[in-house]
This record gives sequence, structure tokens and C-alpha cells, in this order.
Amino acid sequence: MAKSKKPTLEFDTDWTYDPAPESTDHVTINERYKLFINGRFVAPKSRTYFDTINPATGKKLAEVAAAGEADVNAAVRAARKAADTIWSKMPARERGKYIYRIARLLQERAREFAVIETLDGGKPIRESRDIDIPLAANHFFYYAGWADKLAYAFPGKNPSPIGVVGQIIPWNFPLLMAAWKIAPALATGNTVVLKPAETTPLTALKLAELIQEADLPPGVVNIITGAGATGAALVQHPDVDKVAFTGSTSVGKMIQQSIAGTRKKYTLELGGKAANIIFEDATIDQAVEGIINGIFFNQGHVCCAGSRLFVQESVYPQVIRRLKDRMETLIVGDPMDKNTDIGAINSKEQLDTIKKYLRIGQKEGADMYQTSCSLPRKGYWCRPTLFLNASQSHRIVQEEIFGPVLAVQTFRTPEEGIAKANNTPYGLSGGVWTDKGSKIFKITSQIRAGVIWANTYNKFDPSSPFGGYKESGVGREGGLHGLAPYLNLG
Ligand code: NAI
Ligand code: MG
Repeated sequence: MAKSKKPTLEFDTDWTYDPAPESTDHVTINERYKLFINGRFVAPKSRTYFDTINPATGKKLAEVAAAGEADVNAAVRAARKAADTIWSKMPARERGKYIYRIARLLQERAREFAVIETLDGGKPIRESRDIDIPLAANHFFYYAGWADKLAYAFPGKNPSPIGVVGQIIPWNFPLLMAAWKIAPALATGNTVVLKPAETTPLTALKLAELIQEADLPPGVVNIITGAGATGAALVQHPDVDKVAFTGSTSVGKMIQQSIAGTRKKYTLELGGKAANIIFEDATIDQAVEGIINGIFFNQGHVCCAGSRLFVQESVYPQVIRRLKDRMETLIVGDPMDKNTDIGAINSKEQLDTIKKYLRIGQKEGADMYQTSCSLPRKGYWCRPTLFLNASQSHRIVQEEIFGPVLAVQTFRTPEEGIAKANNTPYGLSGGVWTDKGSKIFKITSQIRAGVIWANTYNKFDPSSPFGGYKESGVGREGGLHGLAPYLNLG
């Protein structure tokens, strides 16, 4: 018998996976996309188009229309007509059927949507396949069910639709954010003009094709592409009854100012700077896995990303050691590869922002640690990064970076941990890691944030409301709570 090599129990970081790229055979991306208005794709009156690229390669994927003011007017007009003549008049049960149809078609074409999401935005295919697209379909299923039950959701309140809704979404979860916006609006009898982000418009345009296929009456959903100016024109349009926005806090504030004094209703889903708090009695391996998921998931392009970490002093050395070990195994690279953990940064602008904060953090005196992985030569990439010995006043602790960058601090007592976690202008989400149920209740009730996870992170479900306190926004999306902002309640 040949003498077998002695197995090594040491952790070996040299192993690599073979490439496992997802195929793109089943996907068609047009060379050029027009605007989806009144049930048809129409050329923009502005006559201008812009490129959307694949941030993993820098290559152009398609040309997309830049909607000007006249185009925004046409979309709002179509939505108004559909609201007044068809959608609000239709029996709620029938509305529900259309929304179910969208959900089912999305499930059928899930692979195609996942591939396009990854190509256009740079997120790992594993995430778009397992998280973004299934959750988007679930959202349509969930709100389809509410369509004919609104009277039960708000007993005695005589719920009625608001009218035309202008919706603006960001680039971090393009299709999922479209679903978060469109599904509750349709279920409550409103019509929609939706503007996706300029770097990730393709899945929203695919959704427009799918909505056509679902035979939704013309004008109920209109999808117009463009950048900030298009968004601003939509927000300010006098015939838009409600604005729903997800994006940066600075644009959220501008929107709030620009519609102040009008009758428009609004919900704003803005930035975050979530704290993950690890207590000494936590299961450390589980906590480390959750921290990794919390900040490196989707390149940290997540408004509820766990971008601040507070570790109880007694377990600090072991947490940091295990965190670094685990970070070293993360695979950064081709988002289309099924083994990739961290994909491309969404745009050059976003990479520049992240790099700016890496410089700021070092200047402020925090210790920067990055993993040793190699990065592809083309496209936009950032290594998973830790800032150790960060302090409360540091900008990397106070400001949203929106990248794979984690600022680490310590605390001694639970009171100190809570005080530090709450010392932020934001209040969207947070995480608590401890073995003690009573501690979970005590701590979570004292952290001022809309969602707090305990011994897990980044868990989403359409039935659970989501939204922030302070500068993280106004209003809730998801669940029963997510219906109210789309209704007049008498
Ligand atoms: P942004 O807020 O400018 O973009 C979000 C959406 O708003 C896009 O569709 C954009 O076209 C639109 N928009 C831009 N200016 C507008 C205006 N004046 N009126 C109406 N709509 C407008 O965010 P950006 O510049 O892409 O990212 C900047 C930072 O914002 C990021 O670094 C990140 O910190 C934060 N962010 C937060 C998000 C969240 O989910 N909370 C999502 C995206 C960005
Ligand atoms: Mg793109």
C-alpha cells in the first residue's frame, strides 16, 4: 500500500475553485432601449440615449433612452388616464390577477433576469439568482394577495388609491427595488411611472417587456430611463400624487424640499450606517459569518449594510483573527462566476467614492487592513477592507461609504455598546450577536433603527416592513405597513 500523504489540518488558503461561469446563451439584450409609455416602447422625444456598461469589464451593454421633460409628461399623462379610466375602476380581484401573472412570469424567466442583473450591475450571479430575483417575484406574489383584502387590512378606513405614483430607485438592487415599488402601488389601485438608476436600467426594461406580456392595461406601469434630471422632472410633475424614492440621503433631502408645500405624499428610503454588536457570549464563528455577510454582501452596496462593528473588548482579539481569516477566503472577481463572493463595484463614480473614504480613514488614523486577493485588470474592484481602531468622530464611522469597508470599534459594557451604536445620524438597521435571549430584547429595544437582526443579518421577507429613523428616511415599505403610503385612508 502506498504511503499516503499526511493530511494537514492547517488552514490552507492556496486552494482555488475551477471557473464556473453562468452561461449567457438564453439572454437577449437589445442594442437600444426606448421608453415604456402607455404599454408601448416609444422613442424619446428628447432624442438622446446613453450607455449602460458592465462594470466588471467596462464594456457597453446597451444604449438606453434619456427621458426629457416632454417624455416625463407623456408618461404621467398615460398613468393618469389609466388610473382614472381603468385601474382604479377595475374590481380589486382582477387587479390581483394581473399582479400574480407578473409574479409567475418573473419566476419562469428568473434565470434571464438574474444574468442581466449581474451583467448590468456587477453583483455576483449567486446573489441575483438566489436573492434578488426570487425576492422580487415573492414581492409581487405577496402584494397580489392583498389587492382584494384592503378593507380587511384597514378596517373602517375606506381605503382608496392615491392616483399616479412617481417612483425612483437606485442601482444596488435594481429589480428588487422595482418590485418593492411597483407591487404595493398596483395592489392598492395606483398607476406608476418608474425611473430606474442610470447605471442599472436593464432589468427594469426587461420587466417592461414582461408587463407587456402579462397584458397589463396600457399606462398602468410606465418605465422611463434617465439620470437625476429625469428623476427631478418626475418628482416635480404637478400631476404626480405621490413620490416613492430610494437612494442617497442628499437626494432624498432635495426631493423633500422640492415638494414641500405641495399636496404630494412621499416615502423616502435613504442611507444607513448600521451597527453590528458582538457580545462576549456570542457564538463567535456564527457572528463572524454574519458580519461578513452584513458588509461584504453585494460589495457593501446595501443601505442596511452592517458597516460599523462593535466588539466587546474581551473577545476582540479572537473576533478580529477569525474575521481576517474568513475575509482572506473571499473570492473577488468575475460576477458571472458562481463561486464569486464579491463582484464588481457598480460604477467608476462609486469606486472613486470608496477610494476617497479609504484615504480619509487612513488619514484619520484608523489602521487599514485589506485582503491579499488579486483583482481583475479591467472593471471596478475593491478588496474587502477593515478599519481597526476607528473612533466615533471618524468620517469612516459617521458617513455612508456604500462599499466593502468595515469600521471596527470596541466596547466594555452593554450601555457603552448601545450608546456608540446610536451615535449616528442614521437609523435603518442593526445586528446583535449574543447567546442570551433576554439581552437580545434589552439591546434591540434600545437601538434606534428600523430593522434589527439578532444572530443573523440581511434577512428579508415581503411580509415584514422595512424603513428607517432619523436621516434614513420616512415611511415603511413591505408588509401591511407598506400598503398604507399608497392609500387614502378615510
Ligand atoms: P442617488 O441618490 O443620486 O441615486 C438614486 C436614484 O435617484 C437614481 O435613480 C438617480 O438617477 C436618482 N436621482 C438623482 N438625482 C435626483 C434628483 N435630483 N431628483 C430625483 N431623482 C434623482 O445616489 P447615487 O449618486 O447613485 O449614489 C450616491 C450615494 O448614495 C452612494 O454612495 C450611497 O452612499 C448612497 N446610496 C444609497 C442607496 C440606498 O439604498 N439607500 C442607494 C444608492 C446610493
Ligand atoms: Mg450598467
